[in-house]
Parts: sequence; structure tokens; C-alpha cells
Amino acid sequence: AILSRRGSALVKEMREKKEQARVMKSLEGQGTALGNIMGVKTESDNTTQAEELDPAESHKTFKIAMERASEAGSAAVSTFARTKSIKEQREYLPAFACRSQLTKVIRENQIVVIVGETGSGKTTQLTQYLHEEGYSKVGAIGCTQPRRVAAMSVAKRVSDEMGCKLGAEVGYAIRFEDCTSPSTVIKYMTDGVLLRESLRDPDVDNYSAIIIDEAHERSLQTDVLLGLLRRIAARRRDLKLIITSATMNAEKFSEFFGGVPIFTIPGRTFKVEVLYSKNPCEDYVEAAVKQALSIHLAQPVGDILIFMTGQEDIQATCDCIKERLLSIKEASPLSVLPIYSQLPADLQAKIFERSSQGHRKCIIATNIAETSLTVDGIRYVIDTGYCKVKVFNPRIGMDALQIFPISQAASNQRAGRAGRTGPGSCYRLYTESAYRHEFFANNVPEIQRTNLSNVVLLLKSLGVGDLLKFDFLDPPPTDTLLSSMHQLWVLDAIDDNGSLTSIGSNMVEFPLDPPLSKMLLAAIKEKCTEEVVTIVSMLSVPSVFYRPKERAEESDIAREKFFVPESDHLTLLNVYKMWRSHGSNDKWCEQNFVQPKAMRKASEVRSQLLDIMKQQKIDTLSAGVQWDRVRKCIAAAYVHKAGRLKSIGEYFNIRTGMPCHLHPTSALYGLGYTPEYVVYHELVMTSKEYMQCVTAVSPEWLAESCPMFYSLRITNFRKDGMETKTISMTKAPRPEIVPAATARDSVDKKPEP
Ligand code: CDP
Ligand code: MG
Repeated sequence: AILSRRGSALVKEMREKKEQARVMKSLEGQGTALGNIMGVKTESDNTTQAEELDPAESHKTFKIAMERASEAGSAAVSTFARTKSIKEQREYLPAFACRSQLTKVIRENQIVVIVGETGSGKTTQLTQYLHEEGYSKVGAIGCTQPRRVAAMSVAKRVSDEMGCKLGAEVGYAIRFEDCTSPSTVIKYMTDGVLLRESLRDPDVDNYSAIIIDEAHERSLQTDVLLGLLRRIAARRRDLKLIITSATMNAEKFSEFFGGVPIFTIPGRTFKVEVLYSKNPCEDYVEAAVKQALSIHLAQPVGDILIFMTGQEDIQATCDCIKERLLSIKEASPLSVLPIYSQLPADLQAKIFERSSQGHRKCIIATNIAETSLTVDGIRYVIDTGYCKVKVFNPRIGMDALQIFPISQAASNQRAGRAGRTGPGSCYRLYTESAYRHEFFANNVPEIQRTNLSNVVLLLKSLGVGDLLKFDFLDPPPTDTLLSSMHQLWVLDAIDDNGSLTSIGSNMVEFPLDPPLSKMLLAAIKEKCTEEVVTIVSMLSVPSVFYRPKERAEESDIAREKFFVPESDHLTLLNVYKMWRSHGSNDKWCEQNFVQPKAMRKASEVRSQLLDIMKQQKIDTLSAGVQWDRVRKCIAAAYVHKAGRLKSIGEYFNIRTGMPCHLHPTSALYGLGYTPEYVVYHELVMTSKEYMQCVTAVSPEWLAESCPMFYSLRITNFRKDGMETKTISMTKAPRPEIVPAATARDSVDKKPEP
């Protein structure tokens, strides 16, 4: 039963309330365009990079380690960070206590695995120790992180510790953002960035030392890096390689590199009392809210950390806690702070700010707070027992974010967050029996559950011919590998023999998912790179639309003004063009409920892509008003994500038969016309399967760009001489006759963006 849960009833209720409001409003609306109101904003994240991963360490015992009980008392320890200088804070970390042994083992071995509790100083201190030991004289010290947020926040912290400006000696690089300079000696980056660097520089000669941090998270890119670095380390004997892991599982890494030494940083953790729910909870948002309030009202000082699944649940929890607090007169102040990967950086930074005296903090986080971010002063953990993971279904060839129970390892990691600076308590909103019998011991590594087309493309261009023979720590399922190769074949990136085509090698040049690089390349032929580069950039940033709850209606109307009826992609293009024509003005953004930061980011991404295009000698050409050419490129990119109309608002994937629905925020939603064929950017599962970012396409385009999948049939000659076209899957078993594609009809009526 625990596995079948998909969301919280409270969230559902809020969603229903919003749906009611939507219906009410559409009744009031005039005409079809105004009747199109946005409903609830669900997953607005651009999940181009899986951010909500889970750690995978494997202590099965549920008793949380108590190594050194509080000597000074918890209150004294939690005020430590407030009162001590940065130097004293550094010297207080467990890593400092064993610094000389640590540097000795690194000096004497080319590869070392380092294990330590979260917060022991692995991420912030190791790079500095290597720098202070002189390794940075011969090359940079690189440290990879599975998450963008962690790379940025840790680089900031280390630059503070070293007393330099971020981007000078200490910098970071994440996709589309390079905050380093020629003087950078310590570079934090996402694992994906180092992977891409290895394309240009297969021996990573820039670096004298590389730390693969958070290896226990087993992110896809980290796993691939480990395979590559095993080969690189054999070629470059001067390269120091350090693999760090939160706890346990170190033997696996050590064996993978041929039995290298494992160094364990002695931990400093405090006792955590673990309390289970007596009965399975009906609604984890509701249960978490109640628990948080009861702690706040009755328990001694100490901050609260709640582990939730994703953005939507987090926001619902925050709102609910704030709302209920208002009705409790005697409640002392509580800062309610959300944290998830798509939250703007300045709001993210808030969780690290000290709460003023007597002011309790309640942080509501995704599993990002399990190991990658450490917040001091947490005394109470509330664990819902769920997380959101990206899973790939090779049968339908598609990724989906889904809510799953966490593993025992993750559950223990979460509990441990309460015992960092003093004894604490962990409230598990699930039964002990669920923990013991329903949770897996460890998390499933990402490589075994996600789409691999990006990685396959990368490895192919690194000359790895036979992927089944690559040094994987854990090999991906053959089905997934084949399905990913199939997707690349459909995009013309690899040929019938599995070798990279020229389109494929061009695609690798762009730091984008294969469908988006395909869209860009298709634009060369259609002479509309100018438009497509904008669309691709807009798809590479978090949602540009802003929808504050208290001004929902107003913002919905503002958003509708940008709508291009047959395409969310063209709507995005429209927003960008309007923003530019208003001088990229923040005031304009505010008036139009557009996120200025997301727009600036899109503009940065755009200019970076333009730089790559210039290097590749790709001209920037505009389609003028011939929007069909742009939509044709969009169709070419998403051939495997094409939907055919079933009933109003409801489509099914032509290849897989999977149902997919128009989202209420789509420009195509609630309009008077329903295109027969659409393509979509991604499918998001919330209350049902929603297509995100949809464009109406003509069946000819699909058949033309992907003859392997689709063949066009003229199935019916009508009396008026018009022909009816339909596409069928190549070798599709069920022939069908459908009316003419209505998508084309509306194209000419489209207002000019
Ligand atoms: O990597 P590991 O979990 O072993 O620890 P770390 O991230 O190096 O953190 C060591 C200390 O630095 C912790 O006590 C954090 O509170 C502090 N830190 C911080 O204040 N701000 C950050 N952005 C990161 C770490
Ligand atoms: Mg760390």
C-alpha cells in the first residue's frame, strides 16, 4: 500500500480548490481565449538534470550511532557557529583532527576513498588541505558535486573561509554558468561539467587532483565519471584521485579502483531518538504540519527539518504551517523556510542565515538536505519517508518523476541530521514495520533507473564503442541502454551500426539533452536558428512565469497575453521577444508576471549557445513570420513524444499508447480548437499524466523527420476533394481512420508574436 501513494490528500484538496476556482472563472470568461485559465501550478521545474537524487549508504542498523556524547551540551554547541571565528570553526571540524594522517595517505597513494559523517568537513576542507599542501601549484583542484545548489553554496563557503572573492581562487562551474577565472585553483563543479570537460581534454590535464564528492549518491554522471577516471588514472600517474562518500559502501569504491585505501574520518555525532508513527499516516503533509507545530509549541529550542518530496508538497506544507500558526495566539515566532533545487539562490541562502535569538527555524526540504547541504542547529527531524525520483521506463521510453518510499539508508541519513550539533529527535511518519519490511536497504543508483541517451552520446563521442563493455560500477539494465540507443537512432544521432553520425557529433557540442540539440540542428535546414536558439534557452531555465497565490487571477490574465494558441514553445519565444523589445526591463517583468531572473538566465544561456554555434559555423537565421518552419523543428526534436487526440484535452502517445493530458497552464488548453497531433517537452505525473510544453504539429512533419516510426497514409478522399491524412506507426498493428488534422487550420490565424 505504501508504494502506491502518489501524493498528499491535502495537496489534492488544495488542487481541487484551485480547480473549482478555475471552473468558476472559466464560466465568467468571455470567449474561448479568456476561458483558458491556468489551474494549479504543479511541477514547473525543468527537469533537465535530475536534482532530487538520494544518497545510498548502507547501514542497516537503525540505531543511530552515538560516538561522542555532548560534552558541552547541545545548546552550547549550536551557538558555536554563531560565536566562533571562521578559523576556529574550521579547526573544530572532525576532518581537522586527522588532517596530517589524511594528507599523508593522499601523498602516499594515487587514489584514496575517504569516508566521513555528513558535516565532517569533506567537501569544504579537503580541497583546502590539498591547496595548502601545494597540489594547486601544478594544476587545479577539482571537486565534483551531483547537485548544482551544493556546488554553488560550497564554493561560496570556501571562498569565505579563504578570504577571497567567489570566482577568484575559489570558483564554481555548473551548466551554463562558469564562475571561475584564470586564477582559480579550487574549482567546485557539477559532475556533468567535468564529464563535458573530458570531451575537450580526455586526460583532464588541467587538474592535479580531482575529488569525486558525494559518490554515495550514485548520480548518473558521477558513476560515468568513476568509469572514465579509472582509465585516466592509469594513464596519468601524477593525478590524485579522491572519492568521498557519506558513510559505508566505501568497499565498493575501493574495490572498483583495485583495492585502494579507505580513510575514515572519525565522526562526531550525537544521540538521535527515533520515534515511529503507530499507524501508517494517511496524509504526510498533514501529519508533518501537525508534528512540526506540536514540536514548536511544546519542545525546547532547536530548529526543525522536514523532509518532503518536492516543490509542490513543500510549498503546501509551508503555507499550511504559516496559516495554522496565525490562529495560535501563544505561539512564538517561527521562520518557515523552503529549500529545493529550483528555488532562487537568494531564497536558498536563507536557510543558512542564523535565526535571531528565540526565533525557531523550520526548514522544509527535499532530499537535497540529506547529505549535500548541512544546516547547523537542527534538533528535530520530521521524515515523511518519501522522496521524488526520476525513473525511466524503457518500455515506454520515457522519464517520469515519481514519489517513492525512501530506502533504509536514506532514512538513517535523514535521522542523523538531527544529531549534528547535539542530541536530537527524529519523528518518522511511518511505522517501524514499514521501515523494516517495505523499505529497500539502499537506493537504486540513478544509472539503473534513468534515461541514458545523453550519456550514451557522450561515451560514443569519447570513443567507447561497446557500451556493454564500459567499466560501470553497476551496469545499467540492457533494456534501458538499448532503449536510449534507440532514441538516439530515431534522432539520427547514431546509425544502424550504433556509430555516431555527423548529426550525433554535432549534437555532442551542445550541453543540452539530445532532443534539444536536435531541435537546434534541425533549425539549420529550416533557416530559423534565431528562433529555435531562444526556445531552447527558455526551456533550459526554470519556469519564467510567476504566479503569486494572492494575485493568481491577475497573473493568469497576464500570462494569457503571451499565448500563441498552437504552441507553448512559441509562447516562450513570444515572452522572450517581448522582454527584449522592452529593453529586458525588470519593471516590465513585474507588470507581466514574468520572473526577471529566469529571463536573464535564459538570455545568458542563449548567448552561450550562440557562441557554440559560432564555433560550429552555424549561421543565425530568422524564419521571419513563417512560424511553421519553427514548429517543424520542434516536431523533429520530439518525434518520440508525439501525441494524438483522443478526446478534448486528452491525448495518447502515438508510439506507446500512454495517455497524456493537456495541462491547464498550456496555451492549447481550453481553446476552441483541439489539434489532432501534438508533441511535448516532457510528461509530468501529478494527479494524472500531464504534458508539459506542448506544440501542435502536422502529421507530415512527424512522418518526414522520422520515417522509422511514422508513415503517412492518405486514408480517405472526401466529396469536397479534400484529402484526409493520418499517420500510423510504421508496422503499427491497428489501422485507423481519423479526420483531417485541424492543427493546420489555425496556423494562419495565429497572431504575430
Ligand atoms: O562534506 P561534509 O558533509 O563532510 O561537510 P562540509 O560540507 O564540508 O561541512 C563542514 C561544515 O561547513 C559544516 O559544519 C557546515 O555547517 C559548514 N558549511 C557552511 O557553513 N556553509 C556551507 N555552504 C557549507 C558548509
Ligand atoms: Mg559534503
